[in-house]
Amino acid sequence: MRKKVRFNTKRLTIRTLIPVHVAISYVRGLNDPEINRYLVNVRLRKQSLKSVKEFVRMNLVSPTDLLLGLFTKYENVLIGTIRVSNISRFHLLCSIGICIFDKSRWGNGYGGEALIGTVKYIFEKIHLHYIEAGVYADNKASLRLFRKAGFRVDAHLKNKYRHADSFREVVLFGIENPDWKRKRLR
Ligand SMILES: CC(C)(COP(=O)(O)OP(=O)(O)OC[C@H]1O[C@@H](n2cnc3c(N)ncnc32)[C@H](O)[C@@H]1OP(=O)(O)O)[C@@H](O)C(=O)NCCC(=O)NCCS
Repeated sequence: MRKKVRFNTKRLTIRTLIPVHVAISYVRGLNDPEINRYLVNVRLRKQSLKSVKEFVRMNLVSPTDLLLGLFTKYENVLIGTIRVSNISRFHLLCSIGICIFDKSRWGNGYGGEALIGTVKYIFEKIHLHYIEAGVYADNKASLRLFRKAGFRVDAHLKNKYRHADSFREVVLFGIENPDWKRKRLR
């Protein structure tokens, strides 16, 4: 799989994240309880420059995952990430997750722009057929974001994931490639 990804949306350059991109603002964002509230794996331990760089390296060598940085076009500031994971070359699907760790940017449409742009990239350049995303049912911003990006609700999974001391509902979103060509299966 091509690991060097780079494309533009209106206000963002989206490209493969490398360890040198990892700044303290990124690490602080991941440790912020308001930001990591619904990010199960991030919350498991306190993040450091070392652990985040290690995560970036792991994604760089993984044959099934891509970690993309969301950089503002004009200031070239890293404001968040999108992770494309569990890429299956047989089922032609993947999962997607997003985090804008610079919370001063929330509500300005960056999440939608990044998600819509990445979905387009996955369908047009990686030629996958289906993308899925699991969202905690109480993560209102994320529910709106995935609906806005054209995902449909494929399932409501009651009490699937633990969140602190309770189990919560997860909404499973999916989107299919509208320009899928059957001949690719041959
Ligand atoms: C979810 C997240 C990526 C959204 O990013 P964003 O840049 O604010 O997204 P947008 O500005 O494109 O907004 C997306 C939608 O969420 C809504 N929204 C934004 N913040 C919200 C909030 N705090 N509460 C409710 N809705 C909110 C917006 O109004 C918009 O909906 P609309 O277009 O119907 O009005 C961002 O909040 C984030 O990184 N959160 C922490 C990590 C996380 O939970 N990731 C998702 C895991 S599944």
